[in-house]
Amino acid sequence: MTYSELDHILDSIWDSVELGATLSKHPFRRAVLGTFDGVSPQMRTVILRYSNRERRCIQIYSDVRSNKIQEISEHPKISLLFYDQQESIQIRLNGTATVESGGSHLKTIWAALPIENKINYATPARPGSVADDPVSAFPVVDNQIPDFAFKNFSVITLVVDQIDWLRLGVAGHYRAKFNFRNNGFTGGWVVP
Ligand SMILES: Cc1cc2nc3c(=O)[nH]c(=O)nc-3n(C[C@H](O)[C@H](O)[C@H](O)COP(=O)(O)O)c2cc1C
Repeated sequence: MTYSELDHILDSIWDSVELGATLSKHPFRRAVLGTFDGVSPQMRTVILRYSNRERRCIQIYSDVRSNKIQEISEHPKISLLFYDQQESIQIRLNGTATVESGGSHLKTIWAALPIENKINYATPARPGSVADDPVSAFPVVDNQIPDFAFKNFSVITLVVDQIDWLRLGVAGHYRAKFNFRNNGFTGGWVVP
């Protein structure tokens, strides 16, 4: 594709995010989630789980007891950073996040998760809490699917209202910004 058309760039952004949410090897499978804890920015790697261009939303799964959830509830403006090394493309998605836990909709998502993922929500103590030794921080696994861990499972939904796209190239760098207004994203060029 060419990078001279803002509409094509916007399409490519959502296409790539969609691929990241579905293909485990795609460079956008992982993103850096930025939150604010009231004093400092906080960043961490997360896995992209779902995207929907119509609703301009992205979803991430997380432990409801983790720091990021508290941070999002107090400061719902968050940022997701993606980087495709092969294409030299960086994308920043900014917007407002909400967190869901419990409920029948999440039960359906939980039921489809493989056991290896469910186990991540089965640590007795909350993520980030001090552990006596490494082993005491391991998840509880009693040879059963750890359905008790469902109470710790949450879904973060980001509704995107600003996109910053940057592509570095030997022939020149391109950068564009898109803001959501009324019914769609309006884009413009930015000096890289
Ligand atoms: C490759 C990779 C993928 C990760 N995916 C997730 C994820 O999807 N959700 C999540 O909550 N944490 C994920 N983590 C762990 C986070 O980076 C972070 O350490 C953890 O969520 C605690 O963050 P917090 O204390 O800021 O809330 C991942 C870490 C790595 C290295």
